[in-house]
Amino acid sequence: MPLRNAGRFFRKSLRQPLYAARVLAKRGRSYIDYAIRDGKSAYPESVTLFLTHRCNLRCRMCGQAHYTGPELSMDNLKAIVDDLSSFHPNITLFGGEPMLHEGCMELIKYIKGKGIHCLMITNALLVEDRAKDIVESGLDELNVSLDGDAGIHDVIRGMPGAFNKIMAGLKKIKAIKSETKSSKPLVNLQCTITKYNYKNLESLLRVASEAGANSLTFHNLIFLDRETLARQKDCDKVLGCSSDDWEGFAFEPEIDPQVLHEKIEKILSDSYPFAVDLYPNFSRRELIGYYANPEAGSGGPSSKACLSPWIAAYIFPDGEVKPCLNFSYTFGNIMKERFTELWNNDKAVRFRSFLKKRKAFPACCHCTELFRY
Ligand SMILES: C[S@@+](CC[C@H](N)C(=O)[O-])C[C@H]1O[C@@H](n2cnc3c(N)ncnc32)[C@H](O)[C@@H]1O
Repeated sequence: MPLRNAGRFFRKSLRQPLYAARVLAKRGRSYIDYAIRDGKSAYPESVTLFLTHRCNLRCRMCGQAHYTGPELSMDNLKAIVDDLSSFHPNITLFGGEPMLHEGCMELIKYIKGKGIHCLMITNALLVEDRAKDIVESGLDELNVSLDGDAGIHDVIRGMPGAFNKIMAGLKKIKAIKSETKSSKPLVNLQCTITKYNYKNLESLLRVASEAGANSLTFHNLIFLDRETLARQKDCDKVLGCSSDDWEGFAFEPEIDPQVLHEKIEKILSDSYPFAVDLYPNFSRRELIGYYANPEAGSGGPSSKACLSPWIAAYIFPDGEVKPCLNFSYTFGNIMKERFTELWNNDKAVRFRSFLKKRKAFPACCHCTELFRY
C-alpha cells in the first residue's frame, strides 16, 4: 500500500478493526501473487456487484452508459453470494443506481446473513423511503454521493430538490440508528471533485456534520482525453476487447490543480467530528501532475502499475465477470460458470499477464484505481 494511503487505512481500521485486518491480509497476498504468480491470483479482496445500468439521475461528470437488458434475478444473485461466501470478499453494491434493483434490500440481508462485509454506493434518492430497512438490513457502509450544498449538488446531479431529499434520508438513518442504538451503517459521504464544485468544497463540511456522517471523502475526477483513448485501441486489439465505455469519460477536467490543492490543504489542516480524506491522497506535485499531464499515471516508463485485477472484480447486470469497469474484456459469464471457476481461468491469466507487462493501459491514466494499491 502506498505510504500516503496508510493514514487513511489506519483511521478506517479504528472504525472497523476486524474488517481492516482481513483487508490487510488479503491485500498482502495479492501483492505477493502479483510479483510471483504469472497472472494467477488469490481470490479478490473485493467484488463489486453492478446491479443495474439504470439510473434515476444524469450527473454532469458521469460517463456511464445506460444499457438496457435483463438484470440478474434474486436467485442468480443469491447463488453468486453463496459462491463468493467461500472466500469472504467485501461486496460493494453499485450501478447505475443500485437501489433501483428491486431485490436490493433483500440482497443486502442475504449478504449480511452470510457474515460478509457489505457496502453500497448510492445517490440516496431512495434512502428516505427505505431508511428503516437499510438500518435493519445490517448494511455495513452506506456511501452517499454528495457534491456540494443544495445549490451545487442539484445543478451537478441535474435534479432540483435532490439535495433536500438526500438529507431527509440521512437524517432519518441517523434518527433510526440512534433509536435502535445501532452503529451501522457507517455513513460515508463521497464528493466527486469537478469543475462545478472544486472552489466550494468546504461547503461539504457543514453538510457532513448535519447528516451525522462518519466520513467525508473528496474523490478526484476520472477523465481522459481523445488522443489517449485512441492509443488504447492497440491494447484493445491485442486483448480482443473494446474500451468504448471509456468514451463518456473523454472530457477536459477544467480544474486548476493549484487552487484545488490549496483548498484541500486548508480543509485537511483542521479536525472534525468525522474523518476527512482526499482520494487518491495525492501530494501537491502528484495532484498537479494528475490534472495537468494528459498521460498522468500511465505514461511511459515511469508508469504506475495497476494491481486492481488482482484485488477487485466486477460482476455486471448481464452476468459478465470483468477485471475493470470500462473495458469489455470478460473472464466469462456467471450464469454459465461460478465465479470461483472463472477467477483464474485462461482469460483472466492472460489479461493480468498482459497488464503486468505494460504496468497499466493508456486509458488507465486518470483512473483513480490506478493510484489505490
Ligand atoms: C457512477 S455512480 C454509481 C452509484 C450511484 N448512482 C451514485 O450516484 O452514487 C458512483 C460514483 O461515481 C462518481 N462519479 C461519476 N462520474 C465520475 C467521474 N467522472 N470521476 C469520478 N467519479 C465519478 C459519482 O459521483 C458517484 O459518487
